[in-house]
Amino acid sequence: MRFVFSWLLLLSFVVTLTTTTRGAPNKTPRLSPVDPLLKRQTDVSAIISSDFETFFYDQTLDHFNYKPESYTTFQQRYIINSKWWGGANKNAPIFVYLGAEEPIDQDVTILGFLTENAPRFKALLVYLEHRFYGESNPVRSKEGQDPVEAMKESVKNDTIRGYFNSAQALADYAELLLHIKNKLDAHNSPIIVIGGSYGGMLSSWFRLKYPHIALGALASSAPILYFDDITPQDGYYSIVTKDFKEASENCYATIKQSWDDIDRVATMPNGLAILSQKFKTCSPLNNPLELKDYLESMYASAAQYNAPPKYPTTRICQGIDGASNATDILDRVFAGVVAYHPGRSCYNMTSEATQTSIGWQWQVCSEMVIPIGITSNVSMFPNSPYVLKEFIDDCVNRFDVMPRPHWVTSYYGGQDIRLILSKFGSNIIFSNGLRDPYSSGGVLEDISENILALKTINGSHCLDILNSMETDPEWLVKQRKDEVKIISQWFSKYYQDLRLLKQ
Ligand SMILES: *[C@@H]1O[C@H](CO)[C@@H](O)[C@H](O)[C@H]1NC(C)=O
Ligand SMILES: *[C@@H]1O[C@H](CO)[C@@H](O)[C@H](O)[C@H]1NC(C)=O
Ligand SMILES: *[C@@H]1O[C@H](CO)[C@@H](O)[C@H](O)[C@H]1NC(C)=O
Ligand SMILES: *[C@@H]1O[C@H](CO)[C@@H](O)[C@H](O)[C@H]1NC(C)=O
Ligand SMILES: *[C@@H]1O[C@H](CO)[C@@H](O)[C@H](O)[C@H]1NC(C)=O
Repeated sequence: MRFVFSWLLLLSFVVTLTTTTRGAPNKTPRLSPVDPLLKRQTDVSAIISSDFETFFYDQTLDHFNYKPESYTTFQQRYIINSKWWGGANKNAPIFVYLGAEEPIDQDVTILGFLTENAPRFKALLVYLEHRFYGESNPVRSKEGQDPVEAMKESVKNDTIRGYFNSAQALADYAELLLHIKNKLDAHNSPIIVIGGSYGGMLSSWFRLKYPHIALGALASSAPILYFDDITPQDGYYSIVTKDFKEASENCYATIKQSWDDIDRVATMPNGLAILSQKFKTCSPLNNPLELKDYLESMYASAAQYNAPPKYPTTRICQGIDGASNATDILDRVFAGVVAYHPGRSCYNMTSEATQTSIGWQWQVCSEMVIPIGITSNVSMFPNSPYVLKEFIDDCVNRFDVMPRPHWVTSYYGGQDIRLILSKFGSNIIFSNGLRDPYSSGGVLEDISENILALKTINGSHCLDILNSMETDPEWLVKQRKDEVKIISQWFSKYYQDLRLLKQ
């Protein structure tokens, strides 16, 4: 998500750099189980062991149509680990990670929930890549292109990008899972789908749309209610603000005051040069927005990925509070930047366009319209309301398409979710950490006996499905244990039903 805030996110796509409102698709924080910045530092290939086998499936381009091009296929990547599987004879279960807006091979290394629980359940592990991302891009699979170039081309091509949506992705998962079960002769092996963030939304939706394929879903940090008008637009940033307030009142007050100071200095003679110097920017600032977006993105990222043991919000605030002798507010804010990113010779205010940032922007401009704005006067950030019209204008500029802000709730639901799902659907765990700004759009209360909400007060984004660590606090260990217990109960009931009905 870090990249998504930056105005220079998509150098080749950005049309206007002038507006400061939320009406811009690159202002929607990205959804990802871990901070993309941190993830890139891991050498993925070094970690994937030989237990993980990569396959490609000839996937149908268009599941919902009979136009000639619908019969086209593309190569969809998936990864299987059968090291712990109990086998088809025993109807041993299958844990499936539903890929989201990034390459699947990076996910394989970080999702402890699958690898750590596979031995206990004798589960087969399957990781499915989301269409268009990683190596599963229809453009790339045809021409062997570089992934970023392929993504750029995909979202520009008005034939191919029409197939780039969540309904097609879920249908891919359905077709591919049936193919895998067939191949393994594992017809009665129960499937649990697991995902985080956007992938968490996909998991819960998959269970609701394809109950004959998935027995249950673990939807971690899935903001399925952040659509239409279900969640107040202030939800996301009110939690960012709360996190910083909890870390330190003084830190909150300093940050809240700093935005005016940035604007004030920027209008002085040589103001931008002064700001560039104060914040050690790698290249001179062109306008104060670059700096403000960088900071805003840093605070939001710190809150979203506010994980133990380091708790980035606390780290930033220690930097700011530790510099409380500095008379200049901006010097204190910069001390927070240094505390968050220590040891940098300069701070780069521009970020490069990645396959994920480009692809997610298309998704945001078509159906994943998540209205996030700032309207509260206690917010740590300047007011910046979400204005649908501006959002639409921006998407029209960028892609020449009209976003469909009501499609997600039309197709998947979300309105009156308690009323609807208390009598429909089952076997979904919605897990959240309440310090995660996206938890404001999550399901936080149990809906029925088997649509359950597991939340932790001090948790952040997707912690429960990530690799466990020695330093994990008790509440996180417990959240994961509770999830395992619930899934065990689903299995017990399933195997009981299977015996009664099939034998
Ligand atoms: C768009 O994609 C289609 C299908 O891959 C291809 O036939 C067509 O040439 C592309 N159009 C452009 C303008 O690249
Ligand atoms: C702030 O100044 C006071 C008095 O000059 C000094 O005792 C204290 O150590 C300083 N604190 C920091 C963090 O520099
Ligand atoms: C800053 O980031 C941009 C985009 O990733 C990159 O092109 C540029 O080289 C970087 N500048 C420095 C000084 O590292
Ligand atoms: C913030 O808004 C509330 C409700 O609109 C109002 O009662 C309060 O006085 C405002 N606080 C400040 C500091 O402006
Ligand atoms: C959450 O963290 C705060 C300190 O940041 C601590 O005081 C509180 O006890 C924690 N709550 C739980 C339930 O662990």
